[in-house]
This record gives sequence, structure tokens and C-alpha cells, in this order.
Amino acid sequence: MQAIQLREPGGLAKLDVVELTAPGEPGPGEIKVRLRASSLNFHDYAVVVGMIPTADGRIPMSDGAGVVEAVGEGVSEFAVGDAVVSTFFPDWLEGTARVGDFTTTPGDGIDGYAREQVVAAATSFTHQPQGYSHAESATLTTAGLTAWRALVVDGGLKAGDTVLVLGTGGVSIFALQFAKMMGARVIATSSSNEKLTRLRELGAEHTINYKETPDWGKAVKALTNGEGVDHVVEVGGPGTLPQSIDAVKVGGHIALIGVLTGREGEIPTAKLMAKQAKLQGLIVGSRRHQIEMIRAIEAANLKPIIDREFALSDIADAFRHQESGKHFGKICLTF
Ligand SMILES: NC(=O)c1ccc[n+]([C@@H]2O[C@H](COP(=O)([O-])OP(=O)(O)OC[C@H]3O[C@@H](n4cnc5c(N)ncnc54)[C@H](OP(=O)(O)O)[C@@H]3O)[C@@H](O)[C@H]2O)c1
Repeated sequence: MQAIQLREPGGLAKLDVVELTAPGEPGPGEIKVRLRASSLNFHDYAVVVGMIPTADGRIPMSDGAGVVEAVGEGVSEFAVGDAVVSTFFPDWLEGTARVGDFTTTPGDGIDGYAREQVVAAATSFTHQPQGYSHAESATLTTAGLTAWRALVVDGGLKAGDTVLVLGTGGVSIFALQFAKMMGARVIATSSSNEKLTRLRELGAEHTINYKETPDWGKAVKALTNGEGVDHVVEVGGPGTLPQSIDAVKVGGHIALIGVLTGREGEIPTAKLMAKQAKLQGLIVGSRRHQIEMIRAIEAANLKPIIDREFALSDIADAFRHQESGKHFGKICLTF
């Protein structure tokens, strides 16, 4: 089977297209999946460029979608021919978070889905949403579920709430879509005025260019009659959190998700305290969360925004496209 392996020390030139022995038949509790698609996340980028060190020869990519080719003994949830999508934490099935790192995450701590076939525990997958292509399904594992958990599971999002999303990457566009699906208002930011137009087309009530308006936290507050927003989907980290604290309302919620501006920094803690806001860190979600998200997606007929698709063997070009920051929503690999 064709696969991609990352050579040490990482870097886009270190992504090799290789032929590997196809996996055998699934054992008890396992399924064999013919993978057809994956999608790119910032986390995958950090792994492949060597920002997050991994093992030599690691197969990258956390997201995988495809078709069940064989089922092992005792598996009743899936049948041959079912369309399935992978989970980010193969061992976190339900309940409160109990994983605090990426040691069990495909494409980081273990081999991922940049390959044509895999045999894995059946619980490493869920069914795909009805009517979704494999590429659309592959966007759900990381970006979709993170946005869902931030707003719906942790945030308890209600119709009428106001949500702030930052930039136009995979997580943020899903957050916008889920917020609209749940009857919330959205304020969205981007560095590009062209992308701001697209955000309004997707339903954002207000948009702000964060490059032209560096004090966007105050601008968000002004757009909400001085109140602030109920939820911030914080993908930036230290470079954006101070503005997000300005933007959130008293008693609001900030879902601390991303590291786009770095991994540590100075935060106005007194302001956060005075805001009495809930700052909730999170990493993606459980298999149960994914099943619940897919149920909602099917009921609302929501479709992800895919910017571009690349062939598996063009994985380095796909990451170059992500690196350029030109994308809007998700970039996918199909194979
Ligand atoms: N904790 C978790 O579970 C989890 C899960 C998924 C992702 N993440 C994290 O969330 C972040 C986003 O991930 P992703 O996969 O959605 O990334 P992505 O698709 O690569 O999105 C990148 C986009 O972010 C925007 N951006 C960059 N710098 C920004 C800034 N200073 N302020 C506002 N927006 C900025 C840009 O949008 P414009 O071009 O519109 O400016 C850029 O296109 C990453 O840090 C990632 O590690 C965390």
C-alpha cells in the first residue's frame, strides 16, 4: 500500500511517499479500513515540520476516513462497506477528559492515516455522516470536533448567544457554522478583507480585520453594545488572548484551543478575574462527542467548507498551501 513517512528531523522535504506491506486481517474487536481521505490541521503541520518531534518514519495525519473492508470477531457496530471516520483519541471513548497529551494520537504519538489501509480497534472509528464524501468526513476528526466541543459541550451554547471566532482556519470556520446552526450570532476576524466577505456570506453578522484593527477586542465589545460576547473560540493563544479577554462579556466563556501565536506569554489575569469569565482549555474530544456531533450534523444537514483537495502523494504541496495562509476552511488529502 502507498503511505507517507516522515523522516527525522522533520520538514516538508522529509515527507517520503513509500510502499509498505498492507496490514493483515483484523483481530477480535478490530476493523480493516481502506482509507480514502484525510484533512490537514495545524497540529499535523507542527508534526511534519518538526515543531513537535515524533519518531523517525512516523506516518503523519490525525484525520482519516474511508470504507470498512473487513471486521474482526465480536465487532457488531460496523459491517463491510460502511463509511467510517477516525477519532482523535482512540482510547477516550466517553466521559470527562482523561488524556492530557498526544501520545495516543494518530499522526503524532502513534502512526496516523496518511496510508491506504489500516487495521485498528473498531472504537478508533465512528460512522461518517450520511451524504458526506470521505474528504468531508475527514474534516470532522480534529477541526470539527474541537469546534463542537468548545461551543456545545463545554460552552453550553444557546440560541441567541454571541460567538467570536478568530481567523478562517479549519476550527474557526466549523465554529462559525456550528454557531449559526445553533441559532447564535457570530463575530469573525481575519487578516484578509476578501476572507471577511466570505465570512459574511457564511452568516457572520460582523467581521473585523485583525491586522487593520489591532485592538479588535474593544471593537468586538462595541459591536455588542459594550457587553462583550458569550463565547470566544480562542485559536491564537498568547498573542490574541488579551484581546479575547477584552472581547468576552462578564461571566462569558473562552475556549482556549490554539497556539497560532505561540505557546506561552503574558496574560492580563486581573482583567480575566474581573470579567469572571470561564477560561477552559481543551483538546478535541471523546468518541462519544464525535457521535453526538455527527448526529447534529445530519439533523442540520451541515457541510464543511473545503478549500482545496490534494492527492496523498502531493502531501508536501498541501502543507505548503496551508503554510501560505491562503486557505479558507479545510484542506484535504484524497487517496
Ligand atoms: N486544542 C485542540 O483540540 C485543537 C484542535 C484543533 C486545532 N487546534 C489549534 O487551533 C489553531 C488553529 O488550528 P487550525 O487547524 O484551524 O489552523 P489552520 O486551518 O491552519 O488556520 C490558520 C488560520 O488561522 C488564522 N490566524 C493565524 N494567525 C492568527 C492571529 N494572530 N489571529 C487570528 N487568526 C489567526 C489565519 O486566518 P486568516 O487567514 O483569516 O487571518 C489562518 O489562515 C492551531 O493553533 C491549532 O494547533 C487546537
